[in-house]
Amino acid sequence: MGQLGRSQSARYYKEALGLFPGGVNSPVRAFKSVGGTPLFFNRGKGSRVWDEDGNEFLDFCTSWGPLIHGHAHPYVEEKIIKTLKNGSSFGAPTRLENELAILLKTHLYHVEKFRFVSSGTEAVMSALRLARGYTNKPKILKFEGCYHGHVDSLLVKAGSGLVTLGTSSSAGVPNSIVQETLVLPLNDAALLEQAIQTHAHELAAVIIEPVPANNGLLLQDLSFLHLLRGLCWKHNVLLIFDEVISGFRVAFGGAVELYGIEPDIVTYGKIMGGGLPVGAYGASHNIMSAVSPDGPVYQAGTLSGNPVAMAAGIAQLELCLAPDFYQEMEAKTRGFVERINAYAKVKGYPFELVSLASVFWLSFHGKKSIHRADEIDPDMSAFNRLHDYLLNHGIYLGPSGYEVGFVSSAHSVDELTHAAQVFCRGLDQLYAGAEQ
Ligand SMILES: Cc1ncc(COP(=O)(O)O)c(C=O)c1O
Repeated sequence: MGQLGRSQSARYYKEALGLFPGGVNSPVRAFKSVGGTPLFFNRGKGSRVWDEDGNEFLDFCTSWGPLIHGHAHPYVEEKIIKTLKNGSSFGAPTRLENELAILLKTHLYHVEKFRFVSSGTEAVMSALRLARGYTNKPKILKFEGCYHGHVDSLLVKAGSGLVTLGTSSSAGVPNSIVQETLVLPLNDAALLEQAIQTHAHELAAVIIEPVPANNGLLLQDLSFLHLLRGLCWKHNVLLIFDEVISGFRVAFGGAVELYGIEPDIVTYGKIMGGGLPVGAYGASHNIMSAVSPDGPVYQAGTLSGNPVAMAAGIAQLELCLAPDFYQEMEAKTRGFVERINAYAKVKGYPFELVSLASVFWLSFHGKKSIHRADEIDPDMSAFNRLHDYLLNHGIYLGPSGYEVGFVSSAHSVDELTHAAQVFCRGLDQLYAGAEQ
C-alpha cells in the first residue's frame, strides 16, 4: 500500500470543480472538513480500493455502509451481471421484487408490506408522507444528531428553545415546512415525555435512527427507546425507525432485532441494495394500505424495484443470512476496536473507538459514552490529522470526524490487526509530545 502521489485525483478534481458544485455529487465527498483533495477511486475489490494514482487503501468507508461484503463480491457481482443481461429496467413488475420482499418478510416480522424506492432519502420522505396521510396530522418530531437524508422537513436543527420548534439547516427549506418539524435532544426522557404529551394532537410521527450513526455513534439508553415506543403507543403517534444504516448491519433485523423494539414504520436503504440504489419503507398491512394505488398517499418511482438492484440486494442479503454472520462480524470488529482502545488507554491518549456490531466511530478528547449530539466536541482537528496520517498509510476512512467507519466481511483479521497497528502509530504521532 505504497503512496504514489495524488496527481491524477487532483487533475480529476480540478475538472470536476467545473462540472459539479464543490466538484462532487454528494457534499461530504469533497474533503471539506478534513482538507486536501478528494481521492478519485477507480476500483474496489473486497476490503480494498484503488485510486486513480494507483494508491491502494484498506477501505473503512465501504461506500458509507452499503458494502457489508466488501467491493465486487463475486456472488453479488454474478447476480447483477446475470440479471442485467436480461434488461436493466421495465417499469413493470418483476418477480425479483417479490423475491426480495419475501426474503425480507421471512426475517423482519414487524413488516407486513414494503414499498421499494431508490434511496434512503426517498424511503424516509415517503414514510413521512405515509405517516401524515395515515394519521391526518401534520407534524413530525425528530432528534438533533439524527440524519435522515436530505428531506426538506428533516433538514431542521434544534432552535434556541429547550424543546421543539426547529430552524432550517439548509437554505431553500421554507419556514412553513420547518414549522411542521419539532426537534428534541436524543436520550432525554423528561423532554420527550413533555413534548409528546403537549403535541400528540398534531404529531403524525416521531422519527429516530434507533442507532444514531450520522453524528458520531450516539448509542441510546435502551430505556429511552422503550419509553419512546410506549409514549407513541399511548398518544397515538406513529414511531418511525430509520434503519437505513442499522438495518442488516447491527443484526439482520437491525435495531428492531437487536433491541426488541418494534416501530410502526421502518425505513431501509444502503445494505439492502447490494451497492446499487435501493431503499424501502414498510409497515403493517393496515398502515401500508394507505399507500397508492391502495390508498390516498401518493408515491411512485420510475426505477423503483429495479431488477438489477433487486438482484444485488437479494444476493447481498442471502450472504448476510449465513450462520453466525453477525456474531463473526462483531467479534472481528471488537478485536480491532479493543486493540486500539487498550493501546490508547495504556498511553493515556484521550481517544477511544466507540462501536456497535461492525460500526465504529472515533471519539476524541476523552469523551466517552456520548448519547447526544451536543456532547460531541466540535473541534475535529485531531480527527483531521489522524485521517491524514491514515490516508498516507493506506487506510481510507470517510472524510469527516462525524462519520462512522464500517467493517465488512471482506476485512480479514490480519488486515484488521495491521490496521490497528497503523491506527496506534497514528495516535502516537497525533499525541507526540503530549503524553499524559
Ligand atoms: C439513517 C439515514 N437515513 C437516511 C439516509 C439517506 O439515505 P440516502 O443517502 O441513500 O438518500 C442516510 C444516509 O446516510 C442515513 O444514514
